Amino acid sequence: MTVRICPSILNADRENIFEEITRVETSDWLHLDIMDNVFVPNQTFSKQESLEIIRFSKIPVDSHLMISTPDVDAVEYAQMGSASVTFHLEASLQPTQTLQAIKSNGARASLAIKPKTPFRDVAPLLPLLDMLLIMTVEPGFGGQSFMVDQIPKIQEAYEAIRRLPGAKPWIQVDGGVSLETISLAAKAGADSFVAGSAIYKAEDPVAMITALREAAEINSIKSIKIAP
Ligand code: DX5
Ligand code: ZN
Repeated sequence: MTVRICPSILNADRENIFEEITRVETSDWLHLDIMDNVFVPNQTFSKQESLEIIRFSKIPVDSHLMISTPDVDAVEYAQMGSASVTFHLEASLQPTQTLQAIKSNGARASLAIKPKTPFRDVAPLLPLLDMLLIMTVEPGFGGQSFMVDQIPKIQEAYEAIRRLPGAKPWIQVDGGVSLETISLAAKAGADSFVAGSAIYKAEDPVAMITALREAAEINSIKSIKIAP
């Protein structure tokens, strides 16, 4: 079972962002949160800053777009070199076309759903996804508490994906992931874990990445469940 730990630099030290990125290079993906102050009440990296981060990072960048115009802008993040681009279903009028545009520009294509969006809304699009991001906080800010009420949604997604023929999208969780909560998400079926505060507030971020990975691997549904 491959477990992926994706540090979010949202709450890293902005003044020393490149050092902050270097600190977490033992992880699998770098999670870049893009916010436009419209889709969420917060604003983060500009396109120019994103480009510099993507070019600098030695590990692949997973761009999470919390923006109101993904059908216009998502493709640019693929063209800028993101290895994965995630946009929100709630903000997209033509998710199929946007997913295809991301893929044809060489990136993995992923959809995110907010806590109040039911799994059934995204279910028909599963065959087009490389990853499904299930938010475990309301998007907008780091440091919030993991919403345990999202666990049944993760389980529902895992079961649907397990039954899907062919390539299976990854299941990512984002928000409030810590050593205390990662096992719940892993048991439910998540395999990719975004963690911001848990990693950057840790005394030793590298040790925290290792600990999170171990906790996710031990508790992964794929390692504890007998194959059907
Ligand atoms: C929130 C962002 C997250 C955030 C996670 O809207 O999408 O990626 O940085 O931060 P923590 O791990 O602190 O909840
Ligand atoms: Zn995120």
